[in-house]
Amino acid sequence: MNAEADTMQPKISFQDVTRIFGEGEKTFLALDRLSLDIADGEFVTVVGPSGCGKSTAMNIAAGLTEVSQGRVLVDGEAVHGPGPERGVIFQQYALFPWLTVRQNVEFGLRIKGMTAGERSRISDHFINLVGLRDFADALPKTLSGGMKQRCAIARAYAVNPTMLLMDEPFGALDALTRVHMQDQLLDTWSRERRTVIFITHDVDEAVYLANRVIVMAARPGRLHEIIPVELPYPRTEEMRLSREFAEIRNRVWHAVYHQKPQIDARQ
Ligand SMILES: Nc1ncnc2c1ncn2[C@@H]1O[C@H](COP(=O)(O)OP(=O)(O)OP(=O)(O)O)[C@@H](O)[C@H]1O
Ligand SMILES: [Mg+2]
Repeated sequence: MNAEADTMQPKISFQDVTRIFGEGEKTFLALDRLSLDIADGEFVTVVGPSGCGKSTAMNIAAGLTEVSQGRVLVDGEAVHGPGPERGVIFQQYALFPWLTVRQNVEFGLRIKGMTAGERSRISDHFINLVGLRDFADALPKTLSGGMKQRCAIARAYAVNPTMLLMDEPFGALDALTRVHMQDQLLDTWSRERRTVIFITHDVDEAVYLANRVIVMAARPGRLHEIIPVELPYPRTEEMRLSREFAEIRNRVWHAVYHQKPQIDARQ
């Protein structure tokens, strides 16, 4: 492959990804031929009605769910299971309750066989990055929802993934914490430039964070529309109030909530 072609290679490529659940008479087409390329360092958000296959697509990308047809390529290689280059963050924080913040963040590093010195250097960096320095020795049960989620983000970052797969990570947070977490995530992303795929039900959040908003449709779950967000980074509070932002948000809103049902012979 020549250098030019190499730089064009998407970070992740969904190619005709189809997922059918169930067997016999009771099959359900959860994802219908999803094709989508995401560039290295891109931040895409995914929105769409409940049940449109967002989590299914992400779980396939994470290697936690198999495809029925099609394939997902990461850096040109087909996904056949989870891998350390893909960090996954779910809505429920999934921290180990018996481990402290630092131990949670170091968990993946321990598995990698790193020395205690290397582990603490890396965990210090990411614990500071998410603003949990004063809570490094705290147990998850003593943290607020936002702090737990920041710990989960630090843990995902620590293993040095080149991609973050985030499934409604801020869904359980109050509005104020959520806005703060969005800014913190963008701040981290602008410094580290990992590829991010971020599922949300919040149209404002989808627009505020993304280079592109991927809108999906339900029954069957499929790609509906891709809406570019041509606002510069860093994104600011003023931008949220701008006319440009409102126009994009309205476009996304319309794409999500005014979808025409598709009649599909296979349903
Ligand atoms: N393991 C499973 N077995 C059977 N059906 C499933 C399974 N997982 C998902 N589905 C079905 O596939 C469809 C897509 O589910 P998915 O969780 O991907 O939707 P979603 O877009 O993430 O929805 P939400 O916004 O509510 O999280 C749903 O109709 C769901 O019932
Ligand atoms: Mg979901």
